[in-house]
Amino acid sequence: MTKTTTKSEQLLTHKTECLILFCIEEKTPSGKLAELDTKLKGILNSSFKNKRFQGKLNQTLLLNAAKPMRADHLLLVGLGEELVVTADKLRQAAGTAAKLAEKSKFKTISFYIPAENSAKDVYVGLDQPNDSFSQTVVEGSLLSLYHFDEYKQPAKEKPNRINQITLLAHAKSQVSSIRSAVSRGRKLASAVATSRDLISQPSNTATPSYLAGKAKELAKSFGMNCKVLSTRDMKQLGMGALLGVSKGSEEPPAFIILEHHGGTKNDPPIVIVGKGITFDTGGISLKPPANMDEMKMDMSGGSITLGTLNAAAALKIPLNIVGLVPASENMPSGTAIKPGDILKSMSGKTIEVLNTDAEGRLILADALTYAARYKPKALINLATLTGAVIVALGHQAAAVLGNNDELATRLQQCGEVTGERLWPLPIWPEHEKAMKSDIADLKNIASPGVGAGTITAGAFLKAFVGELPWCHLDIAGTSWSGEERPYTPKGASGFGVRLLIRFLEQEAKNAQSS
Ligand code: BES
Ligand code: MN
Ligand code: ZN
Repeated sequence: MTKTTTKSEQLLTHKTECLILFCIEEKTPSGKLAELDTKLKGILNSSFKNKRFQGKLNQTLLLNAAKPMRADHLLLVGLGEELVVTADKLRQAAGTAAKLAEKSKFKTISFYIPAENSAKDVYVGLDQPNDSFSQTVVEGSLLSLYHFDEYKQPAKEKPNRINQITLLAHAKSQVSSIRSAVSRGRKLASAVATSRDLISQPSNTATPSYLAGKAKELAKSFGMNCKVLSTRDMKQLGMGALLGVSKGSEEPPAFIILEHHGGTKNDPPIVIVGKGITFDTGGISLKPPANMDEMKMDMSGGSITLGTLNAAAALKIPLNIVGLVPASENMPSGTAIKPGDILKSMSGKTIEVLNTDAEGRLILADALTYAARYKPKALINLATLTGAVIVALGHQAAAVLGNNDELATRLQQCGEVTGERLWPLPIWPEHEKAMKSDIADLKNIASPGVGAGTITAGAFLKAFVGELPWCHLDIAGTSWSGEERPYTPKGASGFGVRLLIRFLEQEAKNAQSS
């Protein structure tokens, strides 16, 4: 990951290849920008006047800086209208600027961090005054500069990488608080990168055993407990649903348990469960070939779970947090489960498998049952569960479903700030009824014509959580990005890590004050 440093120096005397300034949308430059413009012979003013740059969100203007500035280049990046600047717009602008600087072949860049109370500065409209400006800038820039390039042979002409990001404090007194915010931003970006790496890995590398190995590595590096259940353990526990899915594959399944003990000994934990299908062919209900390669990302929920535990441990969140990842391939073969087969889950409930491509809910059923052993304060699961969520919400939001509106609302509010949108869907008694089988306790898909694929999947999961406060996030539409976004390169987004960390930190605060 790119290095970051914090310094306090005057704008004019700071030496860097590229000095980045955040600007709100206005007709003519004001505040710090106007001050600078008097030294730059009015080039900023004329750029605004000619509408080359007006500070619109993610708009950029790259200028050659001139004496008396010691920077080589000046990069303006817009935050949009003053009163509606949000933390996520700042994150986007930072990402946009860093990415442009990288493409422009700069190696060292600097972000100017303005004073919190200076007139017309970019703090004015920020929706969350407590969200550190610097942390958000670090998140946005580091996340945008992420690359997954371990399979590329070194090219003759190496693509440019930024070596160093400097945060330029407006005053010496700010340096130490900026430094701690930067350190937090780095930990978050690093955990998101861990998740993105896992999701990006092809399935011939990222097998269930590989995920288990990564979890053990993380546990060792960050002081967590890790245990991996083998096929034998699963048999003993009666995890017939998970074992049923893995039966078609030569790769053994794994049930990963990662624990961060940040709270007191008997404090009930928050349990996070992530779907870990390392490749989803659909099984005997085989998927069509187009875009099947993307199904290497079907362990996104599991990867986000590991990344979240990584960040929670790195940030030393004073809570007990457990991550559970049921991991398996979903393959067609002579040993695979077939439509019509009935599996007995760990809960004792029997499941008629009418479609082997609805495998995520099967492995989650056993993981949710296992989660109940912890008597968790809250149970949150993440899964690339249904294509239907893309029909409902596209790629702009994940669906949140569950049995506890308060928990759902809190998660949604966290995502609003972190730029990981959630949108609620209901689970009504009719949906739960639609998952009842004629010959077993449940069936894994509803009858044709019921519709609401994301909801019926949620209704199925609900049968395994009982009274525990629970939410399910369907991240099938948000985990993988087909296009480059301001701080998300094409491919794995890492959606969910920062949202969950925000939630966990709030939870820790609430626990301390009560
Ligand atoms: N992993 C898929 C869901 C998915 C679709 C993830 C698109 C990412 C992008 C899941 O296991 C699946 O196959 N779901 C089926 C359910 C159906 C058989 C009821 C689906 O959505 O088609
Ligand atoms: Mn499937
Ligand atoms: Zn799947």
